Amino acid sequence: MNKVLCLVLFAGLWSNLYAQGEGHVTKHSSHHSMSQGMDDGRIPLGLTPQMKQHQLANMRAHLEAVQAIVGLMGAGDFDKASEIAYARLGLTEEMRRMCSQFTEDYTAIGMAFHNSGDTLGNALQSEDMQKSLEALNTTLGYCTQCHATFRH
Ligand code: HEC
Repeated sequence: MNKVLCLVLFAGLWSNLYAQGEGHVTKHSSHHSMSQGMDDGRIPLGLTPQMKQHQLANMRAHLEAVQAIVGLMGAGDFDKASEIAYARLGLTEEMRRMCSQFTEDYTAIGMAFHNSGDTLGNALQSEDMQKSLEALNTTLGYCTQCHATFRH
């Protein structure tokens, strides 16, 4: 399937699911906490709706970057993959600023994650497939670690 179409379909499905979830939120929920979900053991970040939207857009961009990197590795274009790792997963000023707006523990994982993005950029630059996959695995480990620890 065409990549753009696939993205559009997925986005549509996602917003449907999201809209259904929002339908259950009543006025009362604001008295309990900032978060909308049930307690699942993860730490709620308590973001404003605006920050939440911004953070999720960043997250989707992270996933797109990982997809682009894996695709470029498959195609043997390590240079381009490395560029994307530095620019979109690495510790840029924008990401440093973004990650510093949360709690200390969240920021710590966020910074470690973005540092691992730079390490991934280095590994890709060496054009060593095994080293690159190991670095990608480390980076993805921070995604899963943070998702297991925090939620909106
Ligand atoms: C420092 C913490 C942290 C790191 C690191 C992190 N995320 Fe997230 N991400 C979150 C939080 C918090 C949410 C909201 C989860 C929830 O409420 O259940 C989220 C949500 C998402 C979503 C859902 C977006 C949406 O529109 O709902 C995607 C996709 C995602 N992350 C991808 C990634 C990927 C891919 C990586 C790694 C390359 C990553 N994240 C790394 C914290 C993080």
